[in-house]
Amino acid sequence: MGFTGSPTLQTLLARRLNRRRLLGGGAELAVLSVAARCAHGQTGETSSLTFPRVAPSKADAVIVPDGYRTDVVLRWGDPLFADGSALDADAVAQGALLAPEAATAQTRQFGYNCDGIGLFQLGADRQLLCVNHEFPMPALLFPGWVEAREARALGAFVRERPSAVAYMQATVGLTVVELTRGAKWEYVRDSRYNRRITAQTAMAITGPARSHALLNPRGESVPLAYGTLGNCAAGTTPWRTYVTAEENVDDYFGNGAAAQLDAATELAHRRFGLRQRDSAHRWEYVDPRFDTAANPQELLKFGWIVELDPFDPESRPKKRTALGRFKHESATTVLAQDGRAVVYMGDDQQFEYFYKFVSRDRFDPARPEANRDLLDEGTLYVARLDDDGRGAWLPLVHGQHPELTAERGFASQADVVLRCREAADRLGATPLDRPEDVAVNPRTGHVYFSCTQNLGRDDGQAVVAGRTLDTRTDRASPRAPNTAGHIIELIERGADGAATEFRWEIFLLAGAPSRQELVAALPAEHSGSLAANVTYFGGATDADELSAFANPDNLGFDGDGNLWIVTDGNQPGDNNDGCFVCPTDGPERGQVRQFMSGPLGAEVCGCEFTADGRTLFLTLEHPGEAGSATNPQSHWPDGGDAAPRPSVIAIEPEARGRKFGT
Ligand code: FEO
Ligand code: CA
Ligand code: CA
Repeated sequence: MGFTGSPTLQTLLARRLNRRRLLGGGAELAVLSVAARCAHGQTGETSSLTFPRVAPSKADAVIVPDGYRTDVVLRWGDPLFADGSALDADAVAQGALLAPEAATAQTRQFGYNCDGIGLFQLGADRQLLCVNHEFPMPALLFPGWVEAREARALGAFVRERPSAVAYMQATVGLTVVELTRGAKWEYVRDSRYNRRITAQTAMAITGPARSHALLNPRGESVPLAYGTLGNCAAGTTPWRTYVTAEENVDDYFGNGAAAQLDAATELAHRRFGLRQRDSAHRWEYVDPRFDTAANPQELLKFGWIVELDPFDPESRPKKRTALGRFKHESATTVLAQDGRAVVYMGDDQQFEYFYKFVSRDRFDPARPEANRDLLDEGTLYVARLDDDGRGAWLPLVHGQHPELTAERGFASQADVVLRCREAADRLGATPLDRPEDVAVNPRTGHVYFSCTQNLGRDDGQAVVAGRTLDTRTDRASPRAPNTAGHIIELIERGADGAATEFRWEIFLLAGAPSRQELVAALPAEHSGSLAANVTYFGGATDADELSAFANPDNLGFDGDGNLWIVTDGNQPGDNNDGCFVCPTDGPERGQVRQFMSGPLGAEVCGCEFTADGRTLFLTLEHPGEAGSATNPQSHWPDGGDAAPRPSVIAIEPEARGRKFGT
């Protein structure tokens, strides 16, 4: 076993034993369940979560509990610099964004579809905020897009209006912006830190794939990539950089069927995916960089973790290839007990894997320059979750495993990181239900990650993302189909992020808990699938006290060790997405309560607290998602007839000085 003497293990064994007994007898159930949940806590104290639960809603508004208030801090189109203009949200329906000058203005404004964020404290009431702009939504930006789509004429639409592509390329990427808190949080226009990064910004490719012939055919010492795309969840590092995850980057590239791919390029694309015909936003019709037939390797420059120094607006972002190429979600960084950096990452697609990277060198707070390239050297691991609740981190290291050798088709570590999914297949990693964001409990070091959903989970076999696989349930993915998603708790051996073994269990099986379908315990050993509607809330047994939620996506922790969860669509009752929270330990473990409900059609993202615990920052992505530029379904946040605007909000307790958590 190897965990002898660890109180964590004893706790887990006790709980597992309790569960076996639970499965056998009903009378003991409630008592044992409480015992099991108390085993997780040190003291059995009730939690600090005392706010009145928010009811699920379909309103076009942000709703928070009494005693809290919300301020909109930044909206899509807000000018970041002295010289820029502001978006006129009333003019979107008239086609204002198709004017060539709109794209130029957008390069100086806050971008679209804000998703993951990072906060860096600058002073008591000053923060530096980094924001991802995940993807454009041309149907909501440009009148005529929906009609052209229905007429199958989007190629002609962008050819006749190339400024639409220029606008979309300006609205994606990242924003860095300073915030100050007076009576409320506001952004600082023209702060010296403010910066926009777009689909055109030059970035360096670093790490093992830097010299790969497919990425760097001319053998340059610092190969460049232009832009960052599909930036989803994100993280910050102890050395005060922002790490952002490139996720669905294949959406941006089209015309794969017409491409003449050499064998190496074809293999590099095989497990990642290549759109055979049109891209999602049709950029390839006016910009050959996004046409795979014209540039078969360009897509390989995307799908990486990008590191940014937000304190130097002139700094060149770096694509850190040592962390592997896949549909990256999250880059949650902690320090191992010996000071090495550990970065947890999901690969958000059905039946993909959960990864971590452990740096070779230690973080040195006294020597900032020594930390600058920590993410270029280290070991990338992929997770295997065994049905007995144990797990192993499998090193994706060239030459270390017989499958990762030149004889088996991996010429170098550059090949391993570029064809990361394929390398992970060979090692026997566990396919999961869309692993997304990751958060680490600051009190315990336990790791939590979302498996958003998996509609392809069934009891058969399928060809998914370039390989044939078993799609049956297992203990880590027990429901088929998994419509509502779940959250897995992973406990590193010795609570050390550098460990190569761990224990794990399901923490929450999301959905609408009802008396019939809420289980107090999960099978201790895998025993086939659970019905799709079975829910599990960390052992909580009173369905009336729980808030229904589905599709957990971004995660965060407050200082008390409460897990905050924001959701991505498909909510029970067709309600709006929201923000939910529960303790992970103690008698209220898994007692999920809704804290906030978002506007109509908006996914709730972000989910970061300021270091003083006074403010929760959330982002609202794609409000009015189902509408169009001329038929908006939401007018949040401006109201009236205005187009909906993806925005960053700050939520604080109304009582001055009060905090989230104690
Ligand atoms: Fe961009 Fe996996 O959500
Ligand atoms: Ca996400
Ligand atoms: Ca999301």
